[in-house]
Amino acid sequence: MATSWLDFWNGSHRIYVNARHAKVHYAKIAADFIVLIPNRQATVVDWGCGEASNAFEIAAHAGRLILCDAASATRDRLTARILASSDVRATRIDVVSPNDLRLQYRAEVDLFVVNSVLQYLSEPELTQLLDDARALLAPDGTLVIADVIPTQDDLIGDIRNLLATAWRYGFFLAALAGLVATFFSPYRRLRNTVGLARHNEADFLARLERAGFKAERMQPNMGFDQRRMAFRAKATV
Ligand SMILES: C[S@@+](CC[C@H](N)C(=O)[O-])C[C@H]1O[C@@H](n2cnc3c(N)ncnc32)[C@H](O)[C@@H]1O
Repeated sequence: MATSWLDFWNGSHRIYVNARHAKVHYAKIAADFIVLIPNRQATVVDWGCGEASNAFEIAAHAGRLILCDAASATRDRLTARILASSDVRATRIDVVSPNDLRLQYRAEVDLFVVNSVLQYLSEPELTQLLDDARALLAPDGTLVIADVIPTQDDLIGDIRNLLATAWRYGFFLAALAGLVATFFSPYRRLRNTVGLARHNEADFLARLERAGFKAERMQPNMGFDQRRMAFRAKATV
């Protein structure tokens, strides 16, 4: 039984209510990611990338796409998918752990995206992430941290947001069933025990500043939940 978020993501989990939900989610994240890429030669990092279903589409808009995830099971699946592909865009994609990322790259990343991950990080993990991003960014590189849960977030809002997205994209009944399943799921148990990290906008901007960034709120947020926050930051010299 998973006792940490990383265990949870390393195990077999059902975070999307069905295949359509996963498809719609990753397509939206990819579209929101692509508009952030500064040019076709850019080196971009997707930190906490998850299944990254639309990675080839993102890679088509960049020089190099670095998919980084702490969950080894996720990295294994991504690597297998990329090795099995004859798509030329696969040659532009690397799959790495956060540790590999830290060791293999330095001051060369043009865009560093962290979407929907902060809620699973402990305080020391967040500090390490910001230090890594600071060291990895090229001088004019941009850090985007998105889908950050605000302090006033609530479960009812999450449910309402899922149902609204499901209604719009045609998986409403599956979403209702998914909500019932979630009630009995390891996700809910961890949410109640370990908890999800939440952040206050002003405090988070100050934290980014202390970590060596000049930061601002970015709108819209990536993905479907506009109650959650996104931040854009550049390293200060
Ligand atoms: C909700 S998924 C986000 C996936 C993708 N970024 C997206 O927007 O769909 C969260 C990701 O964070 C990673 N993660 C969870 N806990 C972590 C931790 N403690 N340290 C590093 N990564 C973690 C998981 O492996 C998972 O891939």
